[in-house]
Amino acid sequence: MCGIVGYLGSQSAAQILIKGLHQLEYRGYDSAGIVLNTGQGKGFNLFKAKGKVANLEAAIPDEVMYQDHVTVSGIGHTRWATHGEPSVANAHPHVSMSGDVVLVHNGIIENYKELKDQLMDRGYTFQSQTDTEVLCNLIDLYYQQHGHDLRMAVMQALNKAIGAYAIVVMEQQDHAHVICARKASPLVIGIGEGNEEFFIGSDATPIVSYTHKVIYLDDEQVADVRLNHEVEILNLDQTLAQVDVKEVDLDISALTKGGFPHFMIKEIFDQPNCIENCMRGRLVHLEDGSYDVKLSALQNFKAKLIRARHVIIVACGTSWHAGLIGKQLIEEMCRIRVEVEYASEFRYRNPVIEKDDVVIAISQSGETADTLAAIQLAKEQGALVFGIVNGVGSSIARAADTGIYIHVGPEIGVASTKAFTGQVTVLTLLALALGRALGTLSEEKFQRTCHELMQIPAKMGEVLKQNEAICQLSAHFTYARNFLYLGRGYNYPVALEGALKLKEISYIHAEGYPAAEMKHGPIALVDEEMPIVFLATHHELYHKIISNMQEVQSRKGRILAIVTQGDEEISHIAQEVIEVPETLQALEPLLSVLPMQLLAYHVAVMKGLNVDMPRNLAKSVTVE
Ligand code: M6R
Repeated sequence: MCGIVGYLGSQSAAQILIKGLHQLEYRGYDSAGIVLNTGQGKGFNLFKAKGKVANLEAAIPDEVMYQDHVTVSGIGHTRWATHGEPSVANAHPHVSMSGDVVLVHNGIIENYKELKDQLMDRGYTFQSQTDTEVLCNLIDLYYQQHGHDLRMAVMQALNKAIGAYAIVVMEQQDHAHVICARKASPLVIGIGEGNEEFFIGSDATPIVSYTHKVIYLDDEQVADVRLNHEVEILNLDQTLAQVDVKEVDLDISALTKGGFPHFMIKEIFDQPNCIENCMRGRLVHLEDGSYDVKLSALQNFKAKLIRARHVIIVACGTSWHAGLIGKQLIEEMCRIRVEVEYASEFRYRNPVIEKDDVVIAISQSGETADTLAAIQLAKEQGALVFGIVNGVGSSIARAADTGIYIHVGPEIGVASTKAFTGQVTVLTLLALALGRALGTLSEEKFQRTCHELMQIPAKMGEVLKQNEAICQLSAHFTYARNFLYLGRGYNYPVALEGALKLKEISYIHAEGYPAAEMKHGPIALVDEEMPIVFLATHHELYHKIISNMQEVQSRKGRILAIVTQGDEEISHIAQEVIEVPETLQALEPLLSVLPMQLLAYHVAVMKGLNVDMPRNLAKSVTVE
């Protein structure tokens, strides 16, 4: 998804912007650009390129790149096409027809066609197919009408625009001034020492190596950022808003690959540590040997959570799969009815939400537009919103009434891995804490589950030791054009997740099914060309899964089975077997998903594909 970076100060702005754009590459993009204004009467210095930030970098001359000690404002952008193909003309920044105003924009202006017609009637012409250029010229129109008052012009234009935006706008006549605004798309302003510098980002990533003092803009707020002045924040109705400066502490070293060839494999291997971090201070081993679960998010809302008769989980993609596991955990441990909804469907239905319902929103990025909209709908109808989020300070984290961060660190690979296990861990802790408070979970089962959960990081380590073997067996599957993933109970969502991982990074078509559903249709696809991944760990439905496997065997399907350590039966049926340590059924997804992630990773690498930035995908989907 698009990324924004901005700078105001007297360091080498081009270098800061390019570095920031590189740090935002993980979001996915197809073109990039920067613009600088040194205020020397030379107009805007604009550079754009299709493709990678490296292409843009190559297009910037040294005298611009290394220009220092000059007061300059600059903005940069990585674009992920929505309106108009990826091209230099459509790349941001966009300069207004008069040449007075320039802007970058994340989001979508829904009424851009209507606005464009109105502007064309007034003689405006356009160089691109984008909604962004329309917004730029609309600001320009008011800028000319209001005696070059940029702030007023931006507010007036935004009052006419329908849609989502995070924008940063510069004017040619004042090189020490920018205006920022947001609605449903995040924007962060970093404040340098003594207001002598400002850093702007669509998230805090390009800011934290310079300053930890940041302002997160709220929806429909406009920030007036002027060198050597305090930032002023206004609401769209022109009233002054409170300026809330926060401290962020994001470890930038966590954004590097740490010796692994790709972010995705680093993040897969990070999981034992991530889960320890996620449980730290929450799953507590007491001196008497027993366990407790302490979730501060529950404290203020415990009564409401306990009273809930109905929980609705809203999420997208991998987070939705985690939600399906959450449903089973909460229903089993808390005996509360749980529905799991795609946020994109939920927001456009007329769902039944009662005042005492709890809506759990799950999101890695915390910026997914559909999930955010689902939260807003739930809040309007009086439900309590509980966020399970990775992105600290993200829009969803701030929109939720309460919630728990999964604390797995920045996830850069577009294919979500450690966020999934973090989400499942938090859902387990939540179900344990609530089940105990409700009395629906016996103390014996609570203690046993806590004890087993504590062992999960070490057991994950054991699964990861098979990486080399999984790499080798992956070589047998690169030929495949279709895959089936089958699992039951807690392993059914893992089958869905395995299929999603494979298709998004290896471009092999894959489907996940509950294993018993196979005979209701998918079995027609089975032949010697078709690999079938069975999640067949040793639990109550084990023998039923073996029957499903035999049905596939007799049709010559190629079986890869994930089994419990020491299983002897399945090795006679399956061509390939990967073992995972034994654990409680409810905790199995935390182990069985790891071979799914590794298989997808190795198949994609062997096919020579870009596993961290697969085609057509964005890390953070901030448009619907
Ligand atoms: O940031 P979120 O968890 O809200 O993102 C939801 C989906 O876009 C995301 O899980 C997506 O499906 C991933 N590419 C899956 O690997």
